Order: sequence, then C-alpha cells, then structure tokens
Amino acid sequence: MKPGNKAIMIHNLNKQFGIVRKNTALINVSMEIDEGRCVAIVGHNGAGKTTLLKIVSGIIEKYGGTVKVSSRCGFCPENSVNFDFMKASRNLKYYYQGTNFKEDSENIFNKLKIENSSLHVKDFSKGMKRKLDIARAILSGSNILLLDEPFDGLDPVVSKELSEIIKQLKKEGRTLLISTHQLGNLEDIADEFYFFQKGMILRAMNADEISRIFAIKLKNPEISLETSKKSSYHIMGVSEGKILIRINEGYAENDIIQEIIKDGGRIEYFSRVSLNDLYLAISEGAKFV
Ligand SMILES: Nc1ncnc2c1ncn2[C@@H]1O[C@H](COP(=O)(O)OP(=O)(O)OP(=O)(O)O)[C@@H](O)[C@H]1O
Ligand SMILES: [Mg+2]
Repeated sequence: MKPGNKAIMIHNLNKQFGIVRKNTALINVSMEIDEGRCVAIVGHNGAGKTTLLKIVSGIIEKYGGTVKVSSRCGFCPENSVNFDFMKASRNLKYYYQGTNFKEDSENIFNKLKIENSSLHVKDFSKGMKRKLDIARAILSGSNILLLDEPFDGLDPVVSKELSEIIKQLKKEGRTLLISTHQLGNLEDIADEFYFFQKGMILRAMNADEISRIFAIKLKNPEISLETSKKSSYHIMGVSEGKILIRINEGYAENDIIQEIIKDGGRIEYFSRVSLNDLYLAISEGAKFV
C-alpha cells in the first residue's frame, strides 16, 4: 500500500434499471478512494448504496461512466449467502473451491472470533452469520473489501466487536468501502463519509472536517447565533433542536464558547456532533458552506 495510490476511481457513474419502467439508482457519482482508506457510504433506503457496491465489485456490469479498481474486491453482500445445512468451514470451502485460499480459514475464524465453526450455519446467530460473510470477503485475499450493511441486525455488543475487526482490517492496510445506516459504529474508523440521497452524492466529508462540527443548544434561544456574523464559525443547520456549527481553522472550541457567552448566550449543550445527528441534519437539508 502506498498513500496516494488510488484503490477505487469512479467517474460520472450512472445506473438505471429496467427498460420500460426505468428506475434510476445512481446519478453522476464520482469518487476517488486512496489505498488504505476506510470510506463510509451513507444514505436512506433506496439511495443507491448496494447498487454502487455491486458495480465496484463487478457483479453489475452494465452502467454508464467509468469504474476502475486496483485489484479484485472481496465483497460482503447485504443479505447472507450461506448454505444453512453446511458447516461454517464447509461454506467457505464450497465458495472458494477450485481457487487457492489466500488465507487460512482457521486463522480467519480465530481473527473474527467465530466460535463453533463446526456448527451448521442454520444453528448460527445472526452475528455469527454476518461474521461468516465477512470471513468470505477476507478469504478472497483482496486488499479492497466492500461491506454492504455489515452491522444490520446486530446487537450493540456484536456491533462493537465488528467495529474492532474493521479497525484491524484497516490497520492491515486494506481499503474498505462500507455502506451503513448505523454510523456510530464507524466513529473513529472511517476517514471519509459520502452521504447519498436518491442516487446522488449529497455531500462528502472527511473525518477531520466532521471533527470540527459541533452541536449547540442555548438556554436562551432568543439569542440568535444565526444572525451574528462570525469569522470563527459557520452555522450549518439545525438538527433535533440543536444548532450545528463548523469551527473554522485556527479556532478551538473554547474560543467559540467564550464568544457565545460574550454575546449573552447561556449554553445548555455544547458537544462534538454525533455522526447520526450529522446524517439527520444533512438529509434534512442543512446547508454546508
Ligand atoms: N435489480 C433491480 N431492478 C430494478 N430496480 C432496482 C434493482 N436494484 C435496485 N433497484 C432500484 O435502485 C434504487 C437503489 O437501490 P439500492 O438497493 O442500491 O439502494 P440502497 O441504498 O442499497 O437501499 P437499502 O438501504 O434499502 O439497502 C432503488 O430505487 C431500487 O428500487
Ligand atoms: Mg442496500
């Protein structure tokens, strides 16, 4: 892995399903992803996340625009594709029969803490099935992993475990493209976030930019932050009754707190924005300058 080398390059990607009743899934999507980066694809149901991942993985071959990947991708699909009446290890072997396993399946079971790999998949919990899907993607030996809603249906404990696994995969230098609704699970992991709506990229942000976004609530909301022209921060929008601001470079959160107090604001809440609040604000049309 070399920083700056592109793992995935997508330019003006368009995808429509159907001929008579056309269903537009992706509109002019462009993104370039460096090797070793972890990128989150975020968006409501039907936003086009799965279609995008299927195109990058090569499952969907017909589309407009260009998609280039630096190597074959390991893909963890939205819905499990395991055979219920096979054991976990047999499932993996079946899938990769005729190819060389690049990694040892026992290693993967240990790494992903898949216990009871000798059980039939029908007796697995949802979390174990999900881990098995991810094991299959890793076994492809590819440095690019595409995970479609890996946290779907998992309880908080297993989700946390999966977040740690993803962190580890990132440390190994893999490039990760992950679609999710549960953004909290990618806190401190994802480097970039693409917010999708109706097949389009509504907004792309990197983790550094997000770390400068704060949510504020005043005890005296009649003191309007909106009307004041500040060089230290921008008002971005309102989410769940909180005002979102982005602190400009060269300023720290203490500067902002002091400024608000000086203007007569009594602060009830001041905290770095959670990814979920940010997602809500973006989809509700918060303006970003
Ligand atoms: N095979 C298909 N035939 C027709 N339309 C499709 C097909 N696959 C996806 N679509 C449509 O493309 C759009 C994007 O679907 P996609 O599955 O990519 O969304 P998504 O963001 O993954 O949604 P979800 O969060 O529900 O998984 C939707 O309008 C969907 O109905
Ligand atoms: Mg999907």
